[in-house]
Amino acid sequence: MEDVYILAVESSCDETAAAVVKNGREVLSNVIYSQIDLHTLYGGVVPEIASRKHIDKINQVVAKAIEDSKTELKDMSAIAVTYGPGLVGPLLVGVSFAKALSFASNLPIIGVHHIEGHICANYIADKELEPPFMCLVVSGGHTHLVKVADYGEYEILGRTEDDAAGEAFDKVARAIGLGYPGGPKIDKVSKTGNPEAIKFPRAKVGGSEYDFSFSGLKSAVLNYLNTASMNNEKIVTEDVAASFQQAVIDVLVGHSMEALDRYGFKKFAIAGGVASNSSLRAAFEKACEDKGVEFFLPPPILCTDNAAMIGSAAYFEYKRGIRHGLDLNAVPNLKLGER
Ligand code: KG4
Ligand code: ZN
Repeated sequence: MEDVYILAVESSCDETAAAVVKNGREVLSNVIYSQIDLHTLYGGVVPEIASRKHIDKINQVVAKAIEDSKTELKDMSAIAVTYGPGLVGPLLVGVSFAKALSFASNLPIIGVHHIEGHICANYIADKELEPPFMCLVVSGGHTHLVKVADYGEYEILGRTEDDAAGEAFDKVARAIGLGYPGGPKIDKVSKTGNPEAIKFPRAKVGGSEYDFSFSGLKSAVLNYLNTASMNNEKIVTEDVAASFQQAVIDVLVGHSMEALDRYGFKKFAIAGGVASNSSLRAAFEKACEDKGVEFFLPPPILCTDNAAMIGSAAYFEYKRGIRHGLDLNAVPNLKLGER
């Protein structure tokens, strides 16, 4: 069978990224230009600034991805691009770039769902992983428990009713003075904190039994901080961070394990920026081992936003015959499984 090389572009939020992926699982190059420093000043991603920086960087990032891969544009079978969900301006930069390159090179375009990309990072990390399996996607914008029935076939079993897990990390980090981006900072300071110091709530929600809610937990942390400062009590940042992080992990692990039992999957994967969290990784490793379920997790570089995962997802779409035309548009609230 002929090798399939895909040039992939990702620009849905604050990373300008490009990669070349061979046959869906082999990463020949993976270039990520992170804009984090630019947005730290504002305490979060500023969409307009992100769009402008993507425009600045995308040519260089794609050229470097092709150079690093030791391939040429003529070797590609398709150009892949994230077309949703995400910030509309940043998405449009990637989509417009991919369309222009497709027009100039005559290569087909494959539009990829960002969350599908996160899930497919697992196919790169483990060359043997095949569906069916269950995947927990935890990122800055999403908290989804997904049934991966087959390549490109997804069913959402549970989702957050309010804040995404990463959003909760970022908001709590800001409240305890750690700054942006909050996830990695909470991860770090929690290592010296006591996760049992403060009892924060583990929310049960009214929708599907596998749905999540993190806004109540965030409010509980804010209330705790307000009450402590009004009573002149000492706030131990490490303990607040560790106790909050433990509450998030308990809910994510609890729901995932219940869903594994209910649906009888033998394989479980995690994905998305929050899947880099060291305590979360350890907790899932143990929970899956106790249950006798095989556990898959991408390395942190493939958990954060990157284009290699988009190239992997596009390969499986390519094999299914999916192609998009020059009328492809950015869809900021694209649903998983929609085309
Ligand atoms: O997947 P991602 O890079 O972008 C989105 O698609 O949203 O996820 C970013 C999110 C941010 O909220 C960030 O704080 C969180 O992932 N994050 C972490 C860690 N590293 C990144 N959260 C907890 N622990 C970490 N080590
Ligand atoms: Zn993401």
